[in-house]
Amino acid sequence: MIVLGIETSCDETAAAVVTDAREIRADVVLSQLDDHTPYGGVVPEIAARAHLEHLDGLIRRAMDEAGIGFGDLDAVAATGGPGLIGGVIVGVMTAKAIAAARGLPFIAVNHLEGHALTARLTDDVAFPYLLLLVSGGHCQLLAVEGVGRYRRLGTTIDDAVGEAFDKTAKLLGLGYPGGPLVEKAAARAANPARFELPRPMLGRPGCDFSFSGLKTAVRRHVEELGGVLSEADRDDLAAAFQSTVAEVLADRCARAIRRFREDHPQGGALVVAGGVAANKAIRSRLSTLAEKQRMQFVAPPLRLCTDNAAMIAWAGIERFRLGESDPLNFAPRPRWPL
Ligand code: KG4
Ligand code: ZN
Repeated sequence: MIVLGIETSCDETAAAVVTDAREIRADVVLSQLDDHTPYGGVVPEIAARAHLEHLDGLIRRAMDEAGIGFGDLDAVAATGGPGLIGGVIVGVMTAKAIAAARGLPFIAVNHLEGHALTARLTDDVAFPYLLLLVSGGHCQLLAVEGVGRYRRLGTTIDDAVGEAFDKTAKLLGLGYPGGPLVEKAAARAANPARFELPRPMLGRPGCDFSFSGLKTAVRRHVEELGGVLSEADRDDLAAAFQSTVAEVLADRCARAIRRFREDHPQGGALVVAGGVAANKAIRSRLSTLAEKQRMQFVAPPLRLCTDNAAMIAWAGIERFRLGESDPLNFAPRPRWPL
């Protein structure tokens, strides 16, 4: 089975060709970073127009790289939501047009399900597993019991982790997008233990997260430094923020592991997914936790953590081989909880 995947829900235009033998035949991503950087964040209207301008060419490139024509495809999958509606419409309409013209099945994929199932594309991971999904818009702990069977163990009560990284980067004057820039600054820090930040929810019962207090604490330190940061201040604060986030995530995961094991005494892997899973300090902290708990730890390669179309093609394959597809009147869903 060979499937074309399309991703246009945020600021990455992406197309990929993936097989059910877990082979990524092509995976092209065009970042719109330069279009949005002057505004310090993603501008939905600019994103939608850029998707429209580039998607056709990217699909052509993916098909060429895979060495196939539309006639070789078994299905077309596109992100159907959640995300910025203008972009989602562009991807869904394009996928529907190819499906209609070629008489192929169309599969609307939930973007979060794309992230959630990526580990099964890159690694030999069986259901059930415990998933920490950390991206720009989401922060959740889920028991993944099968395709379409996600049980939520915890979620953020305020900001998503990626959002906290992006806002902190802004406070530190690092620019956009925040995650990778905070990670780089933290790596340069000469004195990572200099600032003490609160550890929200640490040790509290349940598996929920909270990050807004952490962001406020960073702001307070910036103000105490007179609003003007030296490079050393900036790097040390970035390091404090990153290690605090890593510790909080590990604490919440440790609790979720206990809950997960009550329902699944036979065990399962600890999987991390979403853009923030690209962070090496966070990966390493979680890997240590998994080792202590004697769990398999799976973190997809960095380029498959951030938004891409291979994960959408793969989630399409997982659904399609269970006999599922969507009608051509599927309406894009800007909000679509897992
Ligand atoms: O999954 P993703 O590419 O898009 C969404 O679905 O949201 O995640 C993007 C988020 C952004 O907030 C970005 O700052 C964060 O992931 N991110 C990182 C890193 N790379 C991307 N956060 C921390 N460290 C990174 N290396
Ligand atoms: Zn994403």
